[in-house]
Amino acid sequence: MLSHPLADGAELRALEPWRAEEFHAFIERARPHLAPWLPWATAMDDPAKVRHWLTRCAEAQARDGKRIFGIWLDGELVGGIEFASFDPALGTCELGAWLAPEAEGRGLITRAARHLIDWALHTRGLTRVQWRATTANTRSLAVAHRLGMRREGVLRSAFTAGGVRQDVEVWALVAERG
Ligand SMILES: CC(C)(COP(=O)(O)OP(=O)(O)OC[C@H]1O[C@@H](n2cnc3c(N)ncnc32)[C@H](O)[C@@H]1OP(=O)(O)O)[C@@H](O)C(=O)NCCC(=O)NCCS
Repeated sequence: MLSHPLADGAELRALEPWRAEEFHAFIERARPHLAPWLPWATAMDDPAKVRHWLTRCAEAQARDGKRIFGIWLDGELVGGIEFASFDPALGTCELGAWLAPEAEGRGLITRAARHLIDWALHTRGLTRVQWRATTANTRSLAVAHRLGMRREGVLRSAFTAGGVRQDVEVWALVAERG
């Protein structure tokens, strides 16, 4: 199985449809931590829905569109990162990420994101990598900052979490070309 090492005992791998039950079990465990920020953590409440989602991701990847990866720590699925959009024609993509609480604070997402950014910009020749998070999501915004992204602006009232309208910050990294 193809994998990319992130740290001692931590690996990044494709999150394929056959892993739906494992991903569903992860979501069940991590739901209270993820749901305030990620609506899918509430919606993905049975393995069939998760399999359908991962199948759509695999189909999108086959069309060179968005794609999804898991992060395993000591053999356990503890998080993930996705190209929530990936558009080679426009030269743009967007990353999104999540971790179980016990996997936070180890740099796993920062390292995974650096690897995917390197692939998007240098292997695939894309120009722009975007990251969005609500103004309240300080850990997510810290990842964007750590990755060297620049804060471009705020989309006012662009997201609802727990019935409360939220402002969304847009951060991005833009490759310097020739
Ligand atoms: C957003 C989220 C993925 C960030 O997780 P995170 O653990 O803070 O991010 P990283 O994995 O990059 O780890 C960074 C932390 O590890 C530390 N770290 C340790 N070794 C490191 C290394 N080699 N490189 C970078 N950071 C390292 C950093 O100092 C930082 O810790 P700190 O915040 O205590 O200073 C996580 O909080 C989460 O899943 N939240 C819920 C879901 C969510 O909000 N998703 C994003 C929606 S926009």
